[in-house]
Amino acid sequence: MMTKITELAHLLVRSHLLAQPHEHRFAIDATVGNGFDTIFLADCVGASGMVYGFDIQNMSAARTEAVRRGVAERITLIQAGHETMLAHIPTKAHGEVQAIMFNLGYLPRGDKHITTTSTTTILALEQSLALLADGGILTIACYLGHPGGQEETEAVFSFVNALPTEHYRVLHSRYVNHQRGVPPELIAVYSFGKTHRHS
Ligand SMILES: C[S@@+](CC[C@H](N)C(=O)[O-])C[C@H]1O[C@@H](n2cnc3c(N)ncnc32)[C@H](O)[C@@H]1O
Repeated sequence: MMTKITELAHLLVRSHLLAQPHEHRFAIDATVGNGFDTIFLADCVGASGMVYGFDIQNMSAARTEAVRRGVAERITLIQAGHETMLAHIPTKAHGEVQAIMFNLGYLPRGDKHITTTSTTTILALEQSLALLADGGILTIACYLGHPGGQEETEAVFSFVNALPTEHYRVLHSRYVNHQRGVPPELIAVYSFGKTHRHS
């Protein structure tokens, strides 16, 4: 069975977190929507962890699912743009967030006019790097098929292309024989060596 790009993001995040220490993990879902990634991250961080989730739209579906799965206590949903995440995340988590996930574009089966945008996405990615732990992973699922999607994807690629190689590795995945429309793209940014940055 073909793995969707969002499932590939889960594989990368889960396998990366498995190699990290287990206590008090922090994670961020930058685009909660129906909560697919939020619940996944809540499973990854475990009972002592916390997932901060952002969306500008109502997140009641994600909240309901979190309660149903018994993980609501490890999820903090913040109805605000992800471009304000730094101001919302407690300082104890700054530089300590092990995983941050972005799933760009519009909510499937939702209002297709409410999409992420280049400017706010780049602001949010800049803040994500300040929040990301040494050894953390940031994933970005990009879609090119909707209005503004190509411009946003290009902005994201310019941003990750410019990341310094001494502190970040950037992986890019895409199904090249995709049959319908424009294939989504997945970017994974691995952060390392931050603790030596100021030494
Ligand atoms: C592709 S959907 C996310 C799907 C989600 N991961 C899920 O499992 O359902 C993109 C989401 O980004 C949200 N969004 C758009 N602009 C945003 C912003 N500035 N900050 C946070 N979320 C935003 C949209 O409301 C939409 O729910």
